[in-house]
Amino acid sequence: MLRLRGQPVIGMDVVPSERTDVVGSVVDRALVGRVFSENDITGVIHAGALHKPDIARHSPQAFIDTNVTGTLNLLDAAAAVQAPFVFTSTTSLMISQALRDELYDRTVWLDEDYGPLAPRNIYGVTKLAAEGLCRQCHLTRGLNVVVLRTARFFPEEDDTTRTLSGPNLKTNELLNRRASVQDMARAHLAALDKAADVGFGLYIVSAPTPFSKTDRVMLHRDAQKVIAGYLPDARRVYAQKGWSLPKTIGRVYDGSRITRELGFTYETTFADALNAAMRGLASPLVHDADYVSPQVAHATG
Ligand SMILES: NC(=O)c1ccc[n+]([C@@H]2O[C@H](COP(=O)([O-])OP(=O)(O)OC[C@H]3O[C@@H](n4cnc5c(N)ncnc54)[C@H](O)[C@@H]3O)[C@@H](O)[C@H]2O)c1
Repeated sequence: MLRLRGQPVIGMDVVPSERTDVVGSVVDRALVGRVFSENDITGVIHAGALHKPDIARHSPQAFIDTNVTGTLNLLDAAAAVQAPFVFTSTTSLMISQALRDELYDRTVWLDEDYGPLAPRNIYGVTKLAAEGLCRQCHLTRGLNVVVLRTARFFPEEDDTTRTLSGPNLKTNELLNRRASVQDMARAHLAALDKAADVGFGLYIVSAPTPFSKTDRVMLHRDAQKVIAGYLPDARRVYAQKGWSLPKTIGRVYDGSRITRELGFTYETTFADALNAAMRGLASPLVHDADYVSPQVAHATG
């Protein structure tokens, strides 16, 4: 999207690809420094990471190296030239074990003020630490930073549940915990554009939920009834497709603050996906059961 906008981009990744100009690790401080000294860097989007599926493949130390040290290296280099910085974080760091186990009697409403945070795995722990580094770099060095706690946007199957088909599950998730990959990318550009106005900002990015906080008890008890109240066509369209609506919803990520504060608008909502399904059009969500993440594809040749 940046390139389409006519902005020169330098892609850095450990995996070679047509969009990777510098093959190397953000953990390599000298390399990061070299990339900054050899180029006129006017903004940074830092999305490189070990993420949740990598827990099965990498050690906790590797998570600390990439997600924490790598972020520090980039922040230091960006601060030296005051290049506005956007950090791709994750809503996953808001999920404690109790939240994950859905131990509450009503839907948990997660916005940017939710806390105290108790991430349950090394992925969340290191992403939260990296967010702290971002905040601290703003405070001590005046770097303009926007942290985006992105909800789900991966194209592959869910690694924890297979009870519903991928397209069914992904569409359901647009109700409370997903956004299209295009909206995620658009949010990053909006954050980069607004970083100088914001100074430091932290935003959840998740498609607008049709629900409100007052629905929390009923959403937990009978989500299908609440959905029918907001989206009367949903039950019929789902029946036609052989899909299932969620019976209960354990949590909702509220991604509305970025709209209120940065003026960012989502292009894809649950209603859009429903409308596409109703009219027999392609889903606005990408589902790719065969998707393999770049590092895994590279390692396995
Ligand atoms: N996919 C999702 O649903 C989701 C949800 C929330 C947050 N995120 C965040 O989005 C970002 C992108 O994740 P993704 O899901 O697209 O995963 P991905 O694995 O496709 O992308 C991460 C990229 O980082 C690169 N990378 C890993 N270690 C690196 C290093 N040391 N130096 C340089 N590059 C390195 C990988 O090769 C890969 O290309 C991550 O920061 C992740 O935490 C993703």
